[in-house]
Amino acid sequence: MSLHPNTQAVRMQTPRTAEMEHSTPLFLTSSFCFENADEMRAAFAEENDNNIYSRFSNPTVQEFIDKMCVLEGAEAGFATASGMSAIFGTFMAFLSAGDHLLSCSAVFGSTHTIVTKYLHRWKIEYSYADIKTPETWEALIKPNTKMIYVETPTNPGLDIVDMEWLGTLAKKHNVMLVVDNCFATPVLQKPINYGADLVLHSATKWLDGQGRVLGGIVVGKKELIRDLYLFCRNTGPSLSPFNAWVLTKSLETLDVRIQRHCDNAEALVKALDGHSKLNWIKYPMHPSHSMYNIAKKQMARGGGLVTFDLKGGVESGKKFMDALKMLSLTSNLGDSRSIASHPASTTHSKLSREEQESVSITPGLIRISVGLEYAGDIVADILQALEKC
Ligand SMILES: Cc1ncc(COP(=O)(O)O)c(C=O)c1O
Repeated sequence: MSLHPNTQAVRMQTPRTAEMEHSTPLFLTSSFCFENADEMRAAFAEENDNNIYSRFSNPTVQEFIDKMCVLEGAEAGFATASGMSAIFGTFMAFLSAGDHLLSCSAVFGSTHTIVTKYLHRWKIEYSYADIKTPETWEALIKPNTKMIYVETPTNPGLDIVDMEWLGTLAKKHNVMLVVDNCFATPVLQKPINYGADLVLHSATKWLDGQGRVLGGIVVGKKELIRDLYLFCRNTGPSLSPFNAWVLTKSLETLDVRIQRHCDNAEALVKALDGHSKLNWIKYPMHPSHSMYNIAKKQMARGGGLVTFDLKGGVESGKKFMDALKMLSLTSNLGDSRSIASHPASTTHSKLSREEQESVSITPGLIRISVGLEYAGDIVADILQALEKC
């Protein structure tokens, strides 16, 4: 019987143990035993699939990987301790001295730091491509370009890359395409369908969905994941089995959670549309979004993040944050609890105005990660805070 991916995300499980547990067991162990020397030799020789050591593999971690592969439509995966270790591990496993990386400039802050401040140590070159001018990207591909790297929608700009176009471009130039699918999750878009070779996530965000654990994952073509696995099993960014257990349980509710996050985000967008204190509101599925047509083509719904620009810039931003009564002031996103952040005075305060502008950050930009509370309460808290700025 072939099961829908959502059913598999609920029911896929490591084989039931002799205890006949219903909920999936947690294999909280650093290493695994062998019956005899020959079995141990065979495991190290990769003549069988036995687990050896949890830096290499672990049944609970594998369950999380298997579910993510089903959800993303991928052949194989490797899970990491955080989203950043998934990103850094991917760069290190596939880029060598003399290679060139073409990255979209609108990427998560720590990704930007790796690209601009660290890759040169290993003599890896990079170019930044502007998300607003896709027509300029092809000219940036060089003979030594090995990888194209993008996030869509971007954090926090909520800009969108046309994955069908990019998949075709990457294929034409025989360059590996890597997509950070953190903001959309496989519930809303599957980059592999558009030609991505690898898809990665910060599992810390919507995949956990309750702000409890750090985690990351890379899924994609089997032969690429094999290279990533060999790199990671030796360098050690592996996901802890405990965090994997939390994450695999979270995937049982991913689809329903994301649908409700989208419902609440849509209710918020409706309530804020045209508000006198705002210059604009941005949401992928709002017709005013400059990339709305691309969003409609590749995303099932708009996701749980909404941004808006307060009239009055940085000062209004701080006043708004101080006036919130229920929303949390914290730097995470993708939580059951709604979260507000003001990038210009916090995460992106070190960027120049021009740098902020190039990644769609304005002084009055507020990012709301819309949670699972009753929608009326989220809207009421934001409306009362707007009155105070
Ligand atoms: C789009 C995106 N990618 C990667 C990361 C990094 O993930 P982590 O914090 O799990 O290392 C984040 C974190 O916010 C993110 O938003």
